[in-house]
Amino acid sequence: MCGIVGYIGDKNAYPILINGLKMLEYRGYDSSGIALLGDEQRVYKCQGKIANLEELVSDKDTSGKIGIGHTRWATHGEPTDQNAHPHTSMNGHFTLVHNGIIENYSRLRDDLIELGYTFQSQTDTEVLVNLIEYVYLNSEEKSAEIAVRAALKKVVGAYGIVIVCNEEPNKLIAARKGSPLVIGIGNDEYFLASDATPIVGYTNQVLYLNDHDVAIIERGSLTLKNINNDPLVAKIKQVDLSIGELQKNGYDHFMLKEIFEQPNTIEQSFKGRIKTDNSDIVLGGLHNVMPKLMDARRLIIIGCGTSWHAGLVGEYLFEEYCRIPVEVEYASEFRYRNPIIDEDDVVIAISQSGETADTLAAVKLAKERGATVLGICNVVGSSIPRETDGGVYIHAGVEIGVASTKAFTAQVTILTMMAALLGKERGKLSLEDYRVIIQELSEVPEKIKTILKTTDHIRKVADKYKDAVNALYLGRGALFPVALEGALKLKEVSYLHAEGYAAAEMKHGPIALVDDNLPVVVVAAKDRYYEKVVSNIQEVKARKGNIIAVVSEGDTQLDKMCDDIFEIPRSHPAVAPLLTIIPLQLFAYYVAILRGTDVDQPRNLAKSVTVE
Ligand code: F6R
Repeated sequence: MCGIVGYIGDKNAYPILINGLKMLEYRGYDSSGIALLGDEQRVYKCQGKIANLEELVSDKDTSGKIGIGHTRWATHGEPTDQNAHPHTSMNGHFTLVHNGIIENYSRLRDDLIELGYTFQSQTDTEVLVNLIEYVYLNSEEKSAEIAVRAALKKVVGAYGIVIVCNEEPNKLIAARKGSPLVIGIGNDEYFLASDATPIVGYTNQVLYLNDHDVAIIERGSLTLKNINNDPLVAKIKQVDLSIGELQKNGYDHFMLKEIFEQPNTIEQSFKGRIKTDNSDIVLGGLHNVMPKLMDARRLIIIGCGTSWHAGLVGEYLFEEYCRIPVEVEYASEFRYRNPIIDEDDVVIAISQSGETADTLAAVKLAKERGATVLGICNVVGSSIPRETDGGVYIHAGVEIGVASTKAFTAQVTILTMMAALLGKERGKLSLEDYRVIIQELSEVPEKIKTILKTTDHIRKVADKYKDAVNALYLGRGALFPVALEGALKLKEVSYLHAEGYAAAEMKHGPIALVDDNLPVVVVAAKDRYYEKVVSNIQEVKARKGNIIAVVSEGDTQLDKMCDDIFEIPRSHPAVAPLLTIIPLQLFAYYVAILRGTDVDQPRNLAKSVTVE
């Protein structure tokens, strides 16, 4: 949530900052702003997307070789010009960009008001910058760094900040607790950003700040400390990300590009992990925790949104193939309900970004209570994988579309491999069945290519239903979470209200919605629930609902019964979630396009939810 950037070096900061903000716009796009330091400090900020900021500064002085920038997802205060970052302290000594939430901001604000401070915005960030200034002005030693460290000790909450001090103009100070911050190391220049994407065009040498780290950055030097002033060794890592991944490469939108990337991203997620002769699965990231998994009494899967849906697919797979009880929890509920966890539990945290605040907090809680915690994440070096005892990266590449698509299928691919491997190791899945699943998984990329060839048909069906007001999505077994995910995709990108239900639940309430205006999307691949799903379809048809069904190819029965069908190649049930979701992603995309919404940056959303 919120993206921050910074630059200090010999180049003009403005283009670096503005391009960096564009790459981080997925993190929030309610308002944006920059501060540039040259002979004097200039702050430009405004409501709306980065394009508005570019327009605002088009006739302004953008010189300066040091600067900071911010793109905001509003938490405290509406998305107005005044609430946009950077925020400058009342007496003008400090200017700050911030990602996170200062939880005790209200009390700090009252204290500062009593001390004579006034505020221009409703943000918690303006409280923080004024607190730093107050500490600075009231310390014997006038040092920006000391003031930052002392003020941060008074703060409850999460922050990733980059701050400049007018009295020390050749310096950036960055600090992190809870919200990510990466520093790119160039030749006598440094690039700061909430994630590595704005940095990789300049350098692949990066430093991921840890919680409580404070970095003091001047043109030719970086000093790393903790908040107590203890020196730290900067562990520079090489980031493996190509600039091509960050471009649309001819597609109209990142969402469409990422949908079409799935044959490749799924292959990336199993490549090197499935043996070339399809005889075995090797998951190196689970090596150390395999004994725990072998003895686990229960698996608890945690995540949010789409990652939670992937977890629900995992529940069906682990129970089916490993016969282990599985609970799937929203991370936000899990962390606050005093969960019963013990050392025999293995917790699996699923997160594309690896930064989701609730999932990260749930991971920490599970660890505190003695559970073994694994991560299934995409962003290498992000916070969740750094907290966990083991895990598997999904290797889906950078996902820029705010609506998650390729991360979902890569997460499900990893869960499928984990369930098959553990089922075989625990003696619940025969070697023959294990190898059938591996073989089926290896065929998924080609099968998805076949589905992607039907895009024109899916677009036509989307056109037919684009003016609907509501939609219902139904599925059973492991295809029930696919229905949930299909509904989530439709609502987040097209703003059309959609609900996913377990197909049999429809009779217990949602059936009241069915009339000749309601599209009902049914995930009806051939599996052991198929006949039951056909009955559910009949129930909808009897009430004149419009059925769009995802069916296995050659299903003449449903072809006749349904208004529209999306065909997928026949497959083993273990991999059906990976195939059935593809037409639903495309359907959501085209409904949104035809309704004229902003698919890559739907309103009110942000990709990385680093506030709880
Ligand atoms: C939906 C979507 C969100 C995320 C959720 C969790 O398309 O993208 O629901 O899945 O915010 O994010 P991660 O996976 O980064 O923890």
